[in-house]
Amino acid sequence: MRYSTLCYVLFLILFDAFLVESGAAGGEKDGVYIVYMGAATEHGSSKNEHAQLLSSVLKRRKNALVHSYEHGISGFAARLSAAEAKSIAKNPGVVSVFPDPVYQLHTTRSWDFLKYGTDVKIDLSPNSDSNLSSRGNDVIIGILDTGIWPESKSFSDKDMDPIPSSWNGTCVKAQDFNSSNCNRKIIGARSYNGPEDDDDEIVNTPRDMNGHGTHVASTAAGIMVPGASYHGLASGTAKGGSPGSRIAVYRICTPYGCAGSSILAAFSDAIIDGVDILSLSLGSPASRFSDFKEDPIAIGAFHAVENGITVVCSAGNEGPSEKTVSNDAPWILTVAATTIDRRFKSNVVFDKNKVIKGEAINFANIGKSPVHPLIYAKSAKKAGADERDARNCYPDSMDGKKIKGKIVICDNDEDINSYYKMDEVRTLGAIGAVLVDDKKRGDASEFDEFPMTSISSRDAVEIFAYLNSTKNPVATILPTTVVSQYKPAPTVSYFSSRGPSSISRNILKPDIAAPGSNILAAWTAYNGEAATDKTKNIPKFKIMSGTSMACPHVSGLAAEIKSRYPSWSPSAIKSAIMTTASQINNMKGPLTAELGAIATAYDYGAGEISTNRASQPGLVYETTAIDYLNFLCYHGYNKSTIKVISKKVPAGFACPKESKADLISNINYPSIAVFNLTGKHSRSITRTLTNVAGGGETTYSVTIEAPTGLTVTVSPTRLQFTKNGQRLSYHIIFTPTVSSLQKDMFGSITWTNKKFNVRAPFVVGGR
Ligand SMILES: *[C@@H]1O[C@H](CO)[C@@H](O)[C@H](O)[C@H]1NC(C)=O
Ligand SMILES: *[C@@H]1O[C@H](CO)[C@@H](O)[C@H](O)[C@H]1NC(C)=O
Ligand SMILES: *[C@@H]1O[C@H](CO)[C@@H](O)[C@H](O)[C@H]1NC(C)=O
Ligand SMILES: *[C@@H]1O[C@H](CO)[C@@H](O)[C@H](O)[C@H]1NC(C)=O
Ligand SMILES: *[C@@H]1O[C@H](CO)[C@@H](O)[C@H](O)[C@H]1NC(C)=O
Ligand SMILES: *[C@@H]1O[C@H](CO)[C@@H](O)[C@H](O)[C@H]1NC(C)=O
Repeated sequence: MRYSTLCYVLFLILFDAFLVESGAAGGEKDGVYIVYMGAATEHGSSKNEHAQLLSSVLKRRKNALVHSYEHGISGFAARLSAAEAKSIAKNPGVVSVFPDPVYQLHTTRSWDFLKYGTDVKIDLSPNSDSNLSSRGNDVIIGILDTGIWPESKSFSDKDMDPIPSSWNGTCVKAQDFNSSNCNRKIIGARSYNGPEDDDDEIVNTPRDMNGHGTHVASTAAGIMVPGASYHGLASGTAKGGSPGSRIAVYRICTPYGCAGSSILAAFSDAIIDGVDILSLSLGSPASRFSDFKEDPIAIGAFHAVENGITVVCSAGNEGPSEKTVSNDAPWILTVAATTIDRRFKSNVVFDKNKVIKGEAINFANIGKSPVHPLIYAKSAKKAGADERDARNCYPDSMDGKKIKGKIVICDNDEDINSYYKMDEVRTLGAIGAVLVDDKKRGDASEFDEFPMTSISSRDAVEIFAYLNSTKNPVATILPTTVVSQYKPAPTVSYFSSRGPSSISRNILKPDIAAPGSNILAAWTAYNGEAATDKTKNIPKFKIMSGTSMACPHVSGLAAEIKSRYPSWSPSAIKSAIMTTASQINNMKGPLTAELGAIATAYDYGAGEISTNRASQPGLVYETTAIDYLNFLCYHGYNKSTIKVISKKVPAGFACPKESKADLISNINYPSIAVFNLTGKHSRSITRTLTNVAGGGETTYSVTIEAPTGLTVTVSPTRLQFTKNGQRLSYHIIFTPTVSSLQKDMFGSITWTNKKFNVRAPFVVGGR
């Protein structure tokens, strides 16, 4: 590796987001606690008030306060003992007190592919504006991440207008960072401490010493940079989703993860700074939180949305198991990842020039001729080691003498990061490695200068037969080349976290999918020791995979829509992105998961984003403040708690009499999830559409796609809009035709006039 140890550690964390889950998961110990006190008052909550509450509990100790949240959110973070935390929780006005959780980053020719690859049906109506990216000048995207590398060409402010007058943020002065690092593109930068760690001093600066934040920011709003490539691979023009938008940096992640207390501080600052969109490519395993009021991302996002900010988050990389989606609160736009039509090929040549397809990124060159001895790791098992460990190239399971100077074939059926395997075989003196792995090939692992590649188990049979048939097997691994227009694409990335939501099955999650495998974007030039832009061999652009990479594609698209319709609410923007999504791949077939099964809404939500159509949805499902309050009621919060949490509770508001989870299906969301359908009892759901297509009378008619075993009726079947902004409702009745629904079933409801298709996916299930 060319990177320092620190960088390498980061690298491992990036590719294995959930390997490290530290933080006070158990809860009953001393440390930083977050005290959440609901919505801030209009003029900001007072730091004094927080200090008073704190000192009422802490009689003697000073410096206990870590953050005070005053804008949008009210509350604070402080160093407390478990007993002190309990005592604070008893105060009126305190919604929740919980140990500071630690989140991890969600990482493991994207825009052009979207524009030309998947949009099988391109909107050619006269109003259509396919040059959206020239707009976006006054929209501000806040990025909560590892910081930024401001010298990257992606963040040049050439030709940009002056900073929008609405901007109220700041560009902090810190190590290797000052106001001259901000410009008309990067208009603000703030930095927060990471999770508490006594062993190591981490510099508190917006300068990105990791790369993730720079990658994500340039995907959302980087300008066009011709001639971008990763060491010559994937060369072309790099471009963000909204090249005209501004970037506000909130550095909240360090090598130890991203502290929830810092994330809340960043949300609070972003609300007063005046950002329009917030993009978070990080999260925690779905199982980590059982309630929104102990999840700082859900809390921060709630108050951001109340203040008109669209919040876009990655769904997580825990797929393809079900119920793994994180960041699943209904006010968040939750993004799954898909593959694109570009793959990285590194083939294996063996015997007398037989070739097997391999996928990976490596820059090694050990020759085109199969002259290197080949061995299956199982045959190199060390005395006393477990056979499964050995064939998986697990550390400390192989005999170095047997693999030295050879290419080693490793299985990959154990859940261990392939970078550990690479380290192990390389340290033992192997000259290359071949991973047998069906799952992660589309997410081309990057092995730098070590010749390593991944092959499918089907292709592996041939190579194993060859190994059996000869005494002195030989092979070589070819350096990576790029395959474009790969079919099928997109597919749902193997790693992408799947629905249903573990907190509320009556909200369909994830919401949407966007490119997240093998994404090329800007990178840090930090070389492990110094902040420098001159170090040789550090690439200016890098290929990364993860829902981390998918999230900023959607943030960029949301910014484009916001720039076109500045008055649209976060939920209108979300609806526009969801109802115009595509479910078709570049072979005109249904979108599938990476391994070939037809994808469902639990894989991709409404589908793959359509950058062309999303700016003209025709109709939108607006989720109102009251919808969110009702959601909290149905979710089990009482009126007094809700009044503290939200500043938008109207006088006389009361939770509906029968507030049960089933009713969540009725909040006006752009997708529908209905459960508890048992026997042949039917369930009626209501949705309301708002006309945003402009004036003029227009009539939409409905098309229902229903699975067998379910009758779906919609009334009325036609909706006649006579003016812009008009809202019309319809009812849907779901009736099972079988006595028990064995598994969740999927379908959709699409409203169509001559110009627009407004599609809402649904899922229906039994208990
Ligand atoms: C979009 O841009 C291209 C090239 O810059 C231009 O030829 C075309 O007319 C533009 N289209 C619209 C709808 O503005
Ligand atoms: C700008 O930010 C400051 C705090 O930094 C705040 O007091 C002020 O109210 C903000 N102004 C606006 C217009 O939001
Ligand atoms: C910012 O830092 C650079 C490089 O260290 C220095 O040249 C410049 O004078 C600084 N600018 C300000 C405004 O402090
Ligand atoms: C190779 O030989 C081993 C036993 O020596 C056997 O288990 C395996 O199935 C053989 N593989 C192939 C592909 O023939
Ligand atoms: C509302 O819920 C909170 C938290 O569960 C509880 O402490 C409080 O007593 C409840 N209030 C009422 C009026 O039921
Ligand atoms: C399903 O229905 C049962 C019985 O009506 C109810 O107790 C339960 O809370 C419902 N579950 C959900 C998730 O709504």
